[in-house]
Amino acid sequence: MTLTETLHLHPDAQGIETAAALLVDGALVAFPTETVYGLGADARNGQAVAGIYAAKGRPSFNPLIVHVPDVAAARALTQWSDTADRLAAAFWPGALTLVLPLATGHGLSSLVTAGLDTVAIRVPHHPTAQALLRAAKVPVAAPSANISGRISPTTAQHVLDGLSGRIAAVLDDGPCPVGVESTILSLAGAPTLLRPGGLPSEAIEAALGTPLSQHSGDAITAPGQLASHYAPGAAVRLNATEAAPGEVLLGFGAIAGDITLSAAGDLAEAAATLFDALHRLDRMGKSIAVAPIPHKGLGVAINDRLARAAAPR
Ligand code: TXA
Ligand code: MG
Repeated sequence: MTLTETLHLHPDAQGIETAAALLVDGALVAFPTETVYGLGADARNGQAVAGIYAAKGRPSFNPLIVHVPDVAAARALTQWSDTADRLAAAFWPGALTLVLPLATGHGLSSLVTAGLDTVAIRVPHHPTAQALLRAAKVPVAAPSANISGRISPTTAQHVLDGLSGRIAAVLDDGPCPVGVESTILSLAGAPTLLRPGGLPSEAIEAALGTPLSQHSGDAITAPGQLASHYAPGAAVRLNATEAAPGEVLLGFGAIAGDITLSAAGDLAEAAATLFDALHRLDRMGKSIAVAPIPHKGLGVAINDRLARAAAPR
């Protein structure tokens, strides 16, 4: 891969225009969403999409999420359904990704779907993501903008720490407000949770009026489920009430740490600060102990990411 100088763009009209032109031109542009920063490419351009895999060092069997500005654009790419309609009305734009069967004549590169007959599709809420998608007028494939297997980026600096010189530009609009990746729900069969994320599954179950099936874990339907994903360089120990010698502590609620996710015990605040805290603790060069996080609402997504960070690798 060739090294380039990565442009650091402001999210004003000029920055959006430049970023959109780069995308249409087949270049890679990192941009903020409400969940994490994405590494975007024109999803119809196979060479551009291949660039994502190369920049991230990502195994090529991992399919990517396609970002579009609205439901109409999502319908054009998929075999839409009543259930999709209900969920989109309730949660789009937002932190929900739907996996749906591909429409015929969808025009997406097969690298985006890794050859599957379904596509993961998302309408982000973030105003800068919305502005970029509307300006570019192409579906944008975007995984999280980090080196594969490392901690996801929630600031432009996190993006540059991993990908500077490997991508054309980053649109910098400060920290991501939700802070963990979108919830992925498959609607290819019965609604099935593939990845817990920024939209709590309780909210989806309430909207559908039925419990969700849980992903059974053998097929590669969501490779984000493989161990050693989101991993810092340091070892991670979960459910700790204090730091052992040689450890730094990530606190929560009443358990104060070297960094505390939310002293008030607020799960939304904890999700929003999780990845930045892991990036900062990782730089301290010690093992990381983590206080228990309640396993409900956004706590399910937080615990999922922490379990991956702690997985043997
Ligand atoms: O919040 C997010 O979802 C962020 C922002 C940038 O939108 N994106 C993100 O993308 O987390 P990524 O590539 O890191 O995770 C995408 C996940 C992967 O685990 C992938 O396997 C799964 O979505 N996925 C993509 N297409 C799929 C499909 N057709 N069927 C099942 N899973 C799919
Ligand atoms: Mg990722």
